[in-house]
Amino acid sequence: MDCIKIIGGNKLSGTIPISGAKNAALPLMIASLLTDDILSLEDVPYLADIELLTRILSNHGVDYSVNGRREHQSGAYSRIIHFNARHIANTIAPYDLVSRMRASFWVIGPLLARMGEAEVSLPGGCAIGTRPVDWILDGLRKFGADITIENGYVRARTKTILCGIDYTFPKVTVGGTHVMLMVATLARGDTVLRNAACEPEVINLANCLNLMGARIIGAGTSEIYITGVSRLSGARIKVIPDRIEIGTYAIAVGMVGGDIFLEGADSSLLSTVLQTLRKAGVHIIENDQGLRIFRDTSSLAPVDIITQPFPGFPTDLQAQFMSLMTCAKGRSHITEIIFENRFMHVQELARFGASISLSGHTATVEGVKFLKGAEVMATDLRASVSLVIAGLAAEGETVVNRIYHLDRGFECLEEKLSHCGAQIQRIRA
Ligand code: UD1
Repeated sequence: MDCIKIIGGNKLSGTIPISGAKNAALPLMIASLLTDDILSLEDVPYLADIELLTRILSNHGVDYSVNGRREHQSGAYSRIIHFNARHIANTIAPYDLVSRMRASFWVIGPLLARMGEAEVSLPGGCAIGTRPVDWILDGLRKFGADITIENGYVRARTKTILCGIDYTFPKVTVGGTHVMLMVATLARGDTVLRNAACEPEVINLANCLNLMGARIIGAGTSEIYITGVSRLSGARIKVIPDRIEIGTYAIAVGMVGGDIFLEGADSSLLSTVLQTLRKAGVHIIENDQGLRIFRDTSSLAPVDIITQPFPGFPTDLQAQFMSLMTCAKGRSHITEIIFENRFMHVQELARFGASISLSGHTATVEGVKFLKGAEVMATDLRASVSLVIAGLAAEGETVVNRIYHLDRGFECLEEKLSHCGAQIQRIRA
């Protein structure tokens, strides 16, 4: 298995182009199932999860073509992918594909709305908790679908037609909002989604659906109003910049020092994170091309965070922020309330000499003077990049194993970092 080797201690300086967001591209790609016209997506990142979803969509009969374009020496593929779901050949999403990526379960919404049926494997557990799909199924039933679960598969059928609903999510769910939004566009009549996710990725999807002819207002707030239409057409839209990638590189500079420009970064996608980093002592200057991030030699201040749905501090940056706090001057508290088991990185950070104790949903981090390089193991996508960041700051050599997690969500990671002066290298097995 490939691993990443890092010699820590180098400051970062240079420009990092920000890729399109994986978490925005995935639901946009799934929305292609709603139309028999072509949906073209710009700035689709080149990542394992995206490639897997193209395979899943192909299995349903979706044709796609890619216009690859390598824009920057330092690595960002700004691909345009055209999806054509004119002929849906198959409404079954099998276990061997869905079990590898939870978001692929979301195909259930558009397949049901357009074809009147879908059979999708339950996504199963994952490293960060059980992550059920009960609210998604509850919502689909309310639209009028008949839902049964047999042999690990959800079978969804429309009894007559799907009709608009007034639905309140029990808790904010990003995936639940994506699915219900897609179904509502083709359901008869009006739908109101309350306590909906306000994430920028939901706005990106709603904008795309509106370009396709849907009638959606309120995306980006907790109440979304949709009036169903009888058919959707094709469209062309850009995937928004990846706010988790922006936050990750900003945290990396906070940790190792230096001065980088995050090209294409947009501060409105992560204002809480930037505010938190400023409190910790990281300097951030914005212009219309992106964000300049730098840190001088002053020590890092400890800052407490609690993960929250957007616009709060994202759970997908919790592990990276914990890495940063391991080097702060003092004690910080990091509370995770979105997922039940998202502290797998704690024991790996301890291998660098970090001092972290866990109590329930809160980690208490006592900053140490320096970290020492170590051999560590990636456990999930975001946790694995927190280990890379720690390795960049640590003295000596770090080896990060099981890096296939990183390839799911960080485009050209080693290339982008080494272009800015980091000593980082992939060792192929
Ligand atoms: C998305 C993101 C993921 C991010 C997460 C929270 C993608 C591809 N993934 O995941 O990176 O960490 O949002 O910002 O965009 N829940 C239920 N029942 C349901 C649905 C959700 O109990 O039917 C719970 C989950 O277990 C979790 C919470 O709701 O505790 C939030 O999960 P959700 O927002 O749905 O996460 P995802 O959409 O899967």
